[in-house]
Amino acid sequence: MKELEYHGKVMALLEIKDLKLWYGDKQVLFDVSFSLGEGEILCIVGESGSGKSSILYSVMGLLPNYARVKGKIIFEGEDLLSAGEEKKRAIRGRKIGMVFQEPSAYLDPLFTVGSQVEEAYRIHFPEAGDSEEKALQAMKKAGIPDPQEKYGLYPHQLSGGLKQRVCIATALVCDPPLILADEPTTALDVSVQKRILNLFLTLKEEGRSIILVTHDFGVVAQIADNVIVLKEGRIVERGSVFEIFDNPKDPYTKQLLEAILL
Ligand SMILES: Nc1ncnc2c1ncn2[C@@H]1O[C@H](COP(=O)(O)OP(=O)(O)O)[C@@H](O)[C@H]1O
Ligand SMILES: [Mg+2]
Repeated sequence: MKELEYHGKVMALLEIKDLKLWYGDKQVLFDVSFSLGEGEILCIVGESGSGKSSILYSVMGLLPNYARVKGKIIFEGEDLLSAGEEKKRAIRGRKIGMVFQEPSAYLDPLFTVGSQVEEAYRIHFPEAGDSEEKALQAMKKAGIPDPQEKYGLYPHQLSGGLKQRVCIATALVCDPPLILADEPTTALDVSVQKRILNLFLTLKEEGRSIILVTHDFGVVAQIADNVIVLKEGRIVERGSVFEIFDNPKDPYTKQLLEAILL
């Protein structure tokens, strides 16, 4: 794992310290801390409602206005939680790409998929003359066959797997060092899932860092370097993928593991 130098100290690409989150009066994250190095794939595992998506939304700065958040989210040496809206907008999409759980909810049915990938680039590079080319490259990289032809299609004309690849292209188009993926393969069949996980492995080889949220230990086994197990907003276990599979300590982790080993 390569690490960044910052003010003479070796530090991670992303470091989350004592993250606490409330939606209204209800606390959903309790002192969540972890760090992510360059070229690392971290899986966050936990059952539905444990707070996995909330961690990603906190990093992206996409929480609803009734949310209250405390702690630190240090990305490339800067605390995103104390950053202004302008700074957050500059980072979102450009430095941190996000793949959402449900591509159909994310893509706009009224625009062609290619134009949506292109728009994700133009937001950050409005003066660049090569946005269409960048969009096509990102679509190709995301594993979309014949991107030129797919560019002009609308979301409803694509399969679920291809729509998810369009979302991945959108997340990749600005070449961000960090990618957040929220259960990106949950709705897809196993062969499509496998190809998307292979794509994440390629991104990792390029030195990108990925946080992948999943409730599926099968996915974890295939691609994680490190794992965090979240339960009711608290980290109950953490370790390398080998440690978690060989010697799970928390009863909850054991229970999740048994679900795939049966
Ligand atoms: N926008 C929201 N407003 C209020 N409560 C929310 C919101 N999003 C999630 N929650 C609640 O926060 C908790 C964690 O949810 P979430 O982060 O979506 O978990 P996960 O992704 O692990 O399923 C759950 O109790 C959920 O009901
Ligand atoms: Mg979720």
